[in-house]
Amino acid sequence: MKEFNLLMELARIGAHRRPRKLTSVELSRHLNIPQQTVARYLTRLAEEGLIARTTGPRGQEIEITPAGLAKLHSVYSNLAEIFGDSPRTLKLSGKVVSGLGEGKYYMSQAGYVRQFERKFGLVPYEGTLDVELDSASVPVKEMLRSLPGTVIEGFETEERTFGPVTCFEARLRGERVYVVLPQRTHYTNVMELAAAANLRKKLKLSDGDRIKIEVVI
Ligand code: CDP
Repeated sequence: MKEFNLLMELARIGAHRRPRKLTSVELSRHLNIPQQTVARYLTRLAEEGLIARTTGPRGQEIEITPAGLAKLHSVYSNLAEIFGDSPRTLKLSGKVVSGLGEGKYYMSQAGYVRQFERKFGLVPYEGTLDVELDSASVPVKEMLRSLPGTVIEGFETEERTFGPVTCFEARLRGERVYVVLPQRTHYTNVMELAAAANLRKKLKLSDGDRIKIEVVI
């Protein structure tokens, strides 16, 4: 539990947004606990994959990993429930952007469409609405990747293999949408949304418009 307190303190310092230059001496002073204890907690948090430590030319940098953020959020959810709140949503924000037309290619594959119908009861519009996330929302998206979600299985066609994706139900201006996270992907600040409707038309969205997405978890 004490390690958890340190994790929370690191988040307070902003280590869930970007690596922070911190030493165990500074943390020890700040938290008023012995330096050896801080060092031990840091080692444990790193072993559990909740923080990542790198040593660069400017010394040690500490960053909370998506798994660390997920841990903080699960405690937050539990506490909020106890106190009568229901923060079973994660809020992300960003702006509408255009992609390379890949969404249309993927979302028109029968292998994906059929599973959307079966699992979510909707035929997705052929494509995905791309959202370029604000920097504060990128770690939240990364954290989503460590949560279960609904898995849309991969499949094979005669031409190629399509990988599995994890989906989360979300709300965009009252509209039910699904965040689509390919399981094998490179790091990106763009998040894709699928929905039954053409969201640009229905919600009168164009490139550059700012939007907020509430993900149900
Ligand atoms: O070219 P891009 O990758 O941005 O888009 P796409 O996935 O091929 O989708 C075609 C167009 O429909 C794009 O302008 C998307 O933003 C839009 N779209 C939408 O408005 N609502 C959806 N539910 C899916 C896509």
